[in-house]
Amino acid sequence: MKGVILAGGLGSRLHPLTKITNKHLLPVHSQPMIYYPIQALINAGIEDIMIVTGGNSAGDFLKLLGNGKDFGLKHVNYTYQEGEGGIADALSLVEHFADEDPICVILGDNLIEKNIKAAADEYRAQGRGAKIMLKRVHDPERFGVPELDGEKVLNIEEKPNEPKSDFAVIGIYFYDNTVFDVIRTLVPSGRGELEITDVNNHYIRRGEMTWNELDGWWTDAGTFESLLRASNLVAETGANNL
Ligand code: G1P
Repeated sequence: MKGVILAGGLGSRLHPLTKITNKHLLPVHSQPMIYYPIQALINAGIEDIMIVTGGNSAGDFLKLLGNGKDFGLKHVNYTYQEGEGGIADALSLVEHFADEDPICVILGDNLIEKNIKAAADEYRAQGRGAKIMLKRVHDPERFGVPELDGEKVLNIEEKPNEPKSDFAVIGIYFYDNTVFDVIRTLVPSGRGELEITDVNNHYIRRGEMTWNELDGWWTDAGTFESLLRASNLVAETGANNL
């Protein structure tokens, strides 16, 4: 399985912090934000990694990470997303990198306390389709929210006014290589983006979606409040089992 970190976008919810640099280069406690998703993939046994960047300071990723020596990697792949086409648009850029392999996609502003090793192993055994990770939150309306029927996920709504559960779909996803055909069928949402939630609903309709509940804390870091929370959580407990 290959790994993809989505680290593009203009980070407009964090202006002026992101006026001259990329959100994923901002500090979270003691490290640049992007260090955390890289470590999360490595902890799941995924070392063939593509970083999709975009917006400001794209060249700084190369300066910061090089070939990933600080993480024990021999090589890191990079690509560039023009504009703000959304998460699924960014993902479409890695088709040649994924080739025939399944991928684990992680949003560059998502941090976790523990690891996703068990979910990655289960997905490898699943062999096809997709898997999402869920976490109970007090503010589901900020996220993709699943409607569940026991073990079955029936549908996901993006930032619903009336959430059908108190779970968030976190920014860690597993897909087989049909994901690129799915993305080609998408149309932009109300916010003008190709939504990852639409990709996930495709797999749900095909009956090929499984989910796991994440163990330990999870946070995004794309708003002032969540960026501060991320730093505090890392300070309190560390991230990625470190
Ligand atoms: C994105 C996804 C959303 C998901 C969230 C996790 O939201 O669209 O479904 O729950 O990431 O961080 P965004 O941060 O683009 O608003």
